[in-house]
Amino acid sequence: MSPSELNDRLFTLTLDFLVVKNASNHYWTHVNPALVRALGYSEQELTSQSSMKFVHPDDRHDTELRAKNVVMTGSLQDYENRYITREGRVIWLSWTAVYDPKDNTVYAVARDITRIKERELQIAQQKLEIAAASKLNALGRLAAGIAHEVNNPLTIVYGQACRLRKLATGGSINQNELQQISEEIEDMSSRIVRIIKGLRAFTRDGSNDPLEFVSVKKIIEDTLVFCRGNFKSSGIELTFDEVPDDLQVYARPVQISQVLLNLLNNAYDVVLEAPEKWVRITVVITETHIEMRVSDSGSGVALELRAHLFEAFFTTKPVGKGTGLGLNIAHAILASHGGDIFLDESAPNTTFVVRLPRVS
Ligand SMILES: Nc1ncnc2c1ncn2[C@@H]1O[C@H](COP(=O)(O)OP(=O)(O)OP(=O)(O)O)[C@@H](O)[C@H]1O
Ligand SMILES: [Mg+2]
Repeated sequence: MSPSELNDRLFTLTLDFLVVKNASNHYWTHVNPALVRALGYSEQELTSQSSMKFVHPDDRHDTELRAKNVVMTGSLQDYENRYITREGRVIWLSWTAVYDPKDNTVYAVARDITRIKERELQIAQQKLEIAAASKLNALGRLAAGIAHEVNNPLTIVYGQACRLRKLATGGSINQNELQQISEEIEDMSSRIVRIIKGLRAFTRDGSNDPLEFVSVKKIIEDTLVFCRGNFKSSGIELTFDEVPDDLQVYARPVQISQVLLNLLNNAYDVVLEAPEKWVRITVVITETHIEMRVSDSGSGVALELRAHLFEAFFTTKPVGKGTGLGLNIAHAILASHGGDIFLDESAPNTTFVVRLPRVS
């Protein structure tokens, strides 16, 4: 077989798509039968008009830019774009091309990657669904925590109101008693208001908030409001060692709270299965940093899993319970604060450390 016969057979028989294109415009001068079959147009139709007509409208601009680029750089690799077939079906192609200045021509090869793309889309969709399910789960926990927190002061308000009514119907209201009852109602109501206010701040996306000087103690206490109830009702001892009131960090408090809440929820999940049940928050001040440390009495993180903890979608929890995004997001949040989050492997118990630059 002569070399030209061989080229001809290769061009005609290969299942990859081959095109030859004039580099000065978008007209294909030659297209092989594989591309003719894939697009459903005749060879004549494909070569008698701009090839951009077959490109998906959303990809045309980018495809034009890439076409110019091939001429400038001499080649193109793994460029993916969409075409619309005669039947109206969208197909994804992945292109490799070279430019030959001698004849001002581009020689290109493409492959149909529609199946791979559809699979990628399906996986992305599944990840979104899992994330949504886990968000609901997190929301459920938050709601349970709030219900518990609000329930106590509300019970007291209710009790005092009943007492007041009895006193009023009995006709004997003592000045002191009245004062004590109303003070308690006032106290408890303002506690509820604080909780609701905290919840509003907490469920916002804090990523666009400005950095501010904020008390470490307040961040931690605002976070504890959302989980103290759940811990208590599951028999888990939750302790927070005292820190000075004036200890501050320069941070977006809502985001740091979200990081801590994820650590506390992670600890909750493991401790629930442990014979001894406690979670402890301690604050350590070093020369350069403030560390908020969350330790738990759980069984720890297996050695072979440690390298993956902060990867997106790494989770050992059943489907619907965890997305494996908590620590990954926490890591991004700390990085945007010039801080860090890590597992302290030298600590005697499982300890995650949230580290922020020291400012005071
Ligand atoms: N305190 C801990 N003790 C033992 N393993 C932990 C602890 N904290 C996290 N892990 C492990 O790290 C994994 C990833 O945690 P991460 O918070 O990123 O995701 P998740 O809790 O599984 O899901 P999500 O937080 O998105 O709901 C967990 O599934 C668990 O295997
Ligand atoms: Mg988590």
